[in-house]
Amino acid sequence: MMKALGGVAIFILWLAVTDGIDPSQCIAPLGMESGTIKDEDITASSAFDSENVGPQHGRLRAELNGGAWCPGNPATPEATEYLEIDLRTVHVITAAGTQGRFGNGQGVEYAEFYMLDYWRPRLSKWMRYRNRNGKDVLQGNINTYLEAKENLDPPIMASKIRFLPFSYHRRTVCMRVELYGCRWTDGIVSYSMPQGDKRANSWEFYDVAYDGHWDGERLFYGLGQLTDSITAPDDFKVPYYDQAVESWIGWKNETREGPIEIVFEFDKVREFTSVVIHCNNQFMKDVSVFSKVKVLFSVGGKRYKGEPITYDYMEDRVFDNARNVSIKLHHRVGRFVKLQLYFGGKWMLISEVTFNSAVVSGNFTEEEDETESLQKDQITTADNNDGKNIVSAVNTPSGFGQYLGVVVGLLAVLAILMIAVVAFIVIQQRRYKSSPRPSQVPSGCDKAALYREPSIGRLPCNSDYADVRDPDYAVPLQPPQTPRTAPPLHNFLPKPPPVPLPPERYYAATEICNAGFIPPPPPLSTPPPVRIGRQPGRYMSNTTKTYVGP
Ligand SMILES: *[C@@H]1O[C@H](CO)[C@@H](O)[C@H](O)[C@H]1NC(C)=O
Ligand SMILES: *[C@@H]1O[C@H](CO)[C@@H](O)[C@H](O)[C@H]1NC(C)=O
Ligand SMILES: *[C@@H]1O[C@H](CO)[C@@H](O)[C@H](O)[C@H]1NC(C)=O
Repeated sequence: MMKALGGVAIFILWLAVTDGIDPSQCIAPLGMESGTIKDEDITASSAFDSENVGPQHGRLRAELNGGAWCPGNPATPEATEYLEIDLRTVHVITAAGTQGRFGNGQGVEYAEFYMLDYWRPRLSKWMRYRNRNGKDVLQGNINTYLEAKENLDPPIMASKIRFLPFSYHRRTVCMRVELYGCRWTDGIVSYSMPQGDKRANSWEFYDVAYDGHWDGERLFYGLGQLTDSITAPDDFKVPYYDQAVESWIGWKNETREGPIEIVFEFDKVREFTSVVIHCNNQFMKDVSVFSKVKVLFSVGGKRYKGEPITYDYMEDRVFDNARNVSIKLHHRVGRFVKLQLYFGGKWMLISEVTFNSAVVSGNFTEEEDETESLQKDQITTADNNDGKNIVSAVNTPSGFGQYLGVVVGLLAVLAILMIAVVAFIVIQQRRYKSSPRPSQVPSGCDKAALYREPSIGRLPCNSDYADVRDPDYAVPLQPPQTPRTAPPLHNFLPKPPPVPLPPERYYAATEICNAGFIPPPPPLSTPPPVRIGRQPGRYMSNTTKTYVGP
């Protein structure tokens, strides 16, 4: 029975995390070699001879015409020439492959080094890629025929990529390339939030991987650690000793007025099932999970109509491990989602936010501006009705999300029922054992060991009884001085199931009852993620304050 329970719990977990990108599975060639990427999506700064060595020939393992892309000018340390690939939608790029010009044995050109620039809608600028060690010059080829494959750690989230051949000395180069990765199905185009705070002199809870703009206070138009699929460790100090470990992003209540607002922008209008926030809870060190979250939705991004979804988190001062807090979003629809996180303590640290969502088709009009002065938390009834109408109008076509919701709901109910039954049995067994029954012999040794009860007054285990199944039940009834004897549960449950250690099980039960908490999955269910280190070099400096407004 416990096995079945565990199975159900694992299944629920699995359902809850299906939408995140699994970096170890995101390794497919994106289509330079296969031709999925069309010729017109491959361009270049120049070509030595566009017919023979134009950008369309820069495909890995292709041997047409000249057999590679060769820029009009030699490669230099300035790296001015580039081969550009338009993937059209945002992809997660986990590796890049390069080759030189073999040209049926006639070619001699290859690029020893190269750099990568990337572009995303919203970012609206080309960013130079740097890996975890802060290096932007990547290792290329050593001959004209072997592919050099470079793993990108951290991965690049981009819709366009440029390969820039690089050389410390002037050098004629040609390139054939491939990209490896997968589509970025989460659909997050950017998130915007206040930059984290510094704690004492030692710990900076900054989003160091953020690639958008930073105006000194707020981060906007970029992506960073919240969406890199990597969670930070239980102890927030660990990343400061081990640079390879993901660090937390955090804010201090003292320096903030009101809740922390994080706005996520998506590629298309989507219907949301849930959001999972990975939170720290080292309450001994003044860090607590938020006390409350409000979630607001918008199509246009200017006005957030409809009643916010409010989620209350019950303070946990027992366990200080990091946890995933899952909030149901009831199939609400929007292209922008705003999270308002209310402090539960002096500090609030998060490391990852994952949405479960699906694109919805249909005509969506931006919310009108007519009541601009209205505060998001003081919404009139008319607004509420509007919000509900939008939701119900769109809910109908997408049956799958609802179906999934029903399945998850049923499973959750089943799990709660099972836990209730187990708890009931445990309580009954405990009562049964603790009621005074001097005339009785303790049941089998194995059973006594499983319960881990205080062994006051327990008779030594007697091997004579070891084979007897629950001798208690065979004993004639006691005189009515023990009216609280257990009901005959064993009639339909002949063997009481092995019962877990009580504290853990109670924890799980209350957490599940506390609306949608996702208990930590067993470590074996998650493959090791790609690790992303701290890259101080990747943020935009204060000097780039100029940007194009939305
Ligand atoms: C956060 O700070 C405000 C005032 O600065 C205070 O009223 C509130 O109680 C604090 N919240 C927590 C959880 O410490
Ligand atoms: C969406 O609205 C536009 C005009 O506002 C209309 O031309 C178009 O057909 C509509 N599309 C759908 C799918 O209803
Ligand atoms: C939280 O969920 C992520 C996947 O979304 C997983 O990698 C991580 O191990 C989970 N952490 C805990 C503490 O459950």
